Amino acid sequence: MSVKDKNIIIGISGGIAAYKIPLLVRLLKKAGANVQVLMTPAAHDFVTSVTLSTLSEQAVLTDFIKDDTGLWNNHVSLGQWADLMVFAPVTANTLAKMANGQADNFLLAVYMSAKCPVMIAPAMDLDMYAHPATKANLKKLQSYGYEIIPATEGELASGLTGYGRMEEPENIFDRISTFFTPKNDLTGKKVLVTAGPTYESIDPVRFIGNHSSGKMGIAIAEAAAERGADVVLVSGPTHLQAKHPAIRTVKVQNAAQMYDAVHNEFDNADITIMAAAVADFTPEQTAGQKIKKTGDTMMLSLKPTKDILASLGQKKTGNQILIGFAMETENEKANALKKLRKKNLDFIVLNSLREKNAGFKHDTNRVTILTKSGDIIDYPLKTKKEVAADILDLVNEFQVAE
Ligand code: CTP
Repeated sequence: MSVKDKNIIIGISGGIAAYKIPLLVRLLKKAGANVQVLMTPAAHDFVTSVTLSTLSEQAVLTDFIKDDTGLWNNHVSLGQWADLMVFAPVTANTLAKMANGQADNFLLAVYMSAKCPVMIAPAMDLDMYAHPATKANLKKLQSYGYEIIPATEGELASGLTGYGRMEEPENIFDRISTFFTPKNDLTGKKVLVTAGPTYESIDPVRFIGNHSSGKMGIAIAEAAAERGADVVLVSGPTHLQAKHPAIRTVKVQNAAQMYDAVHNEFDNADITIMAAAVADFTPEQTAGQKIKKTGDTMMLSLKPTKDILASLGQKKTGNQILIGFAMETENEKANALKKLRKKNLDFIVLNSLREKNAGFKHDTNRVTILTKSGDIIDYPLKTKKEVAADILDLVNEFQVAE
């Protein structure tokens, strides 16, 4: 798969780098994509719509109303048509509006209606790019799961030199192609992934659980399946579901059931990734009937659950790869390293709870991966999909190196 037959919207706002966008449109069209160009009114000062409509073979749209007919340009259906929206160049002004949901022109209305992935290539003068407001807006947009194509360093239209140049159109084209080109490096591999929380029943109506949404584990399962693996997903209670046909989902409720389900599958797995947030303790007894209120206090007696990951670490053979997660709030790296050694893992993915948009329930995550050979790799804030890809990339590098 490539960009061929993909529906791509290019959104241009009013910056000098707009003059480079015809080349991007040409590259996409040559590769077989369907391209719809949208421009903000200010963008017309920097590049002509005639050039862009000629190259895209589509009328360029700027307004809600078609010029001479009085007909409506439907921003909602355009948003739904797109497989990807690429904003290039994005000015500080459009960036701020995108971050805050201000839809005061046609391009932004389409953006607000679209459900597809979004790529953003900012371009502005260096001080505007370095301004805390711009940085905060970029961070916010990244937290929505959008891919930022950072500005590069060089000569700027102001005559100054620094960061603020839009990435070159050829490189933006490469980013788009990579986005649509799945890797097949896990073909023939069996991957076992756990996701979600566990619910430990106290009585028929109450349980002990945690805030895990299952998003990270499901993103890993989806990414592995897209790369050709046969995937078993053992999932705790979550309303989210993996969709890829190569994923078989086994649903469980509590830690003991997860232990059994994982052990059922483990011997066949080449790669096991324990992303689930498994309860460490479970009620010593589950009451058969709803516990009634009897006094001002209540004592609940808990016993430890079995550590699933540690039990897999003891069992694993030389050609199986075992990956755990660690959620830490202090001495993060030292504690994660201890877990990696104690549980006999190949990697451990450390989640930071200090990062505002990372961890439980967010669409983004910021992780550090520690490997058994002593590497410590810090990643920036990324979408959970991108984090999943990073983990699988590392698995592949590791297999090649072994
Ligand atoms: N894990 C597991 N079985 C458990 C508890 C945790 O398999 N009963 C796995 C998790 O899926 C995760 C890893 O162990 O991959 C680390 O989980 P975490 O809660 O961070 O660590 P614990 O080992 O439980 O240690 P602590 O809670 O003391 O930090």
